[in-house]
Amino acid sequence: MLYRPVTRFLSTAPQCLTPPANPIIRWSSHFAPPRPHVNPGKKVTISKLQSLYRGNEPIAVLTAYDFPSGLVADAAGMDVVLVGDSLAMVALGMEDTDSVTMEEMLVHCRSVARAVTRAFLIADLPMGYYEVSPEQAVQSVMRMVKEGHVNAVKMEGGEEMAPTIRRITEAGIPVMAHIGLTPQRQHSLSGFRVQGKSAAGAVKVLRDAIAVQEAGAFMILVEAVPAEVAAIVTKRLRVPTIGIGSGNGCSGQVLVQVDMTGNFPPGRFMPKFVKTFANVWGEALRGIEEYKRQVKARDFPDVDYSYEIPEEELVKFRDSVGGGLRRKVESE
Ligand code: KIV
Repeated sequence: MLYRPVTRFLSTAPQCLTPPANPIIRWSSHFAPPRPHVNPGKKVTISKLQSLYRGNEPIAVLTAYDFPSGLVADAAGMDVVLVGDSLAMVALGMEDTDSVTMEEMLVHCRSVARAVTRAFLIADLPMGYYEVSPEQAVQSVMRMVKEGHVNAVKMEGGEEMAPTIRRITEAGIPVMAHIGLTPQRQHSLSGFRVQGKSAAGAVKVLRDAIAVQEAGAFMILVEAVPAEVAAIVTKRLRVPTIGIGSGNGCSGQVLVQVDMTGNFPPGRFMPKFVKTFANVWGEALRGIEEYKRQVKARDFPDVDYSYEIPEEELVKFRDSVGGGLRRKVESE
């Protein structure tokens, strides 16, 4: 038998040198998984997102940072996958999003883009690559699309970014705006604070939303805004809002994958709005600790996980390597 079923084959060495013929159950870490078989659904487009919005069906968005996180998000049927610049923290271990570079974002975008075949794929413009001028922004966006293989970009900012959003959409690239709490501006916001908590603050959120919509944004991420405010803003718009920490009245929701899958050590601070739907850290830790135990006890690998040599070949091999080694091998 050349291949083993997926449960065994996933973690074992390949027994052939060409990719397996039936990829749905026959791939390993030695071959890229067969993407179309993971989620064979039709590619999500902007018109599809608009029809979900018109039909009042919430749009499901999730972040991804690399090939496996993109693959699982697509397999689970996300409408949109976002390569968020939160990868600075959750994938690169940085303090915040300030230092992540365009080059780093592009590596992660390409990796996710190889995995995501169905969901609409959006990437964050990192801080420092779009604020200087609309021309700088267009150049960065073109790199995101041509080198990162994403379908659209997301950028932080409200009214003040409207000319830039207009210029990018005129260049033919869809823009998702990001208003409310904008983490790239954490220092001027005095930290990660809920936005729109006063009447004046709520008016600002609405003004920002209308400005980015009029500039051409096809979707607006609304972060950390009181639920009632986000719901009123959503009702005033003709493009979908995607909420994070902004209640249930938005047109869709987004979460950070590492947070919502519980892929972090216990004790880490989590914002109030993060619901943890799985315990990936706990399960991975349990498996890795058990692996360590079995390695130390010489329980792994047993015969089930080892290759065999025919007895007569083994005898010949022992004969050919001489007495010293034969004695050693036989004594084992
Ligand atoms: O970078 C990110 O992950 C984000 C979140 C708000 C979804 O923008």
